[in-house]
Amino acid sequence: MDALLRDAIEAARLARGIHLYYLEKGFSQSTKSGPTDLVTQADREAEAAIRRFLMERHPDHVVLGEEEGQQGEGAFRWIVDPLDGTVNFAHGFPFFAVSIALEIDGAIQLGVVLDSTRDELFTAIRGRGAYLNSRPLRVSQTGTLIGSLLATGFPYDVNKDPENLQYFERVLRKGLTVRRPGAAALDLAYVAAGRLEGFWEVKLNPWDVAAGWLLIEEAGGTVTGIHGEPYALGNRYLVASNGRIHQELLDTLHGR
Ligand code: IPD
Ligand code: CA
Ligand code: CA
Ligand code: CA
Repeated sequence: MDALLRDAIEAARLARGIHLYYLEKGFSQSTKSGPTDLVTQADREAEAAIRRFLMERHPDHVVLGEEEGQQGEGAFRWIVDPLDGTVNFAHGFPFFAVSIALEIDGAIQLGVVLDSTRDELFTAIRGRGAYLNSRPLRVSQTGTLIGSLLATGFPYDVNKDPENLQYFERVLRKGLTVRRPGAAALDLAYVAAGRLEGFWEVKLNPWDVAAGWLLIEEAGGTVTGIHGEPYALGNRYLVASNGRIHQELLDTLHGR
């Protein structure tokens, strides 16, 4: 597993290099599902570079990536967000990352989230803890929502998937503190690092979640669906926390 983690880190570093290159040089961009759903040259080239690297080392593995999808099936599947936080990136707002996870026989076994501008490397191997660079990570010990810093995110077309408008309003009306940083993989890494007590979002994709989910579990936190049921990749709802505030967060989202 250590060698596979080293591969994931090397691939993430390639992608980071591409982000920083285009951030400096400028890049072309276009839209995907709607006018605010951007994709840039950096997203595409970062994914191509990660794929090339992983396929060369592991020709029998498969890759699921945001920009190119998945070709074929296999027991070893890399789940890749080549640039999480594209809109932030496109505006030069320095909160975007690469997310790479390895799923083996349906279970995530390792995850890497690399913050491109801060060069913070979050890593986890199942059963062996989570790290920021080489420092072990632990979720925060805060036990109340009122003392918590929370974050969420919204899909590109919130009118198609409006549930979070209500959740967000309930959290705000309770007078709680909430951010919308704009890069789900990094938001999850921040829960693992104890910088956020909780995070929730509706309609995330496997590449947004796979690495950050493992980071949180390995840092002692909790990731569930909207009713507190165990999370599974592909769930429509994700609620993540340090564990201690989890029930209170679920209650608040449900208006209890
Ligand atoms: C998006 C970001 C954003 C979240 C969206 C994601 P992308 O990913 O993680 O924070 O709210 O749901 O789609 O498109 O920048 O990789
Ligand atoms: Ca995207
Ligand atoms: Ca993403
Ligand atoms: Ca992306």
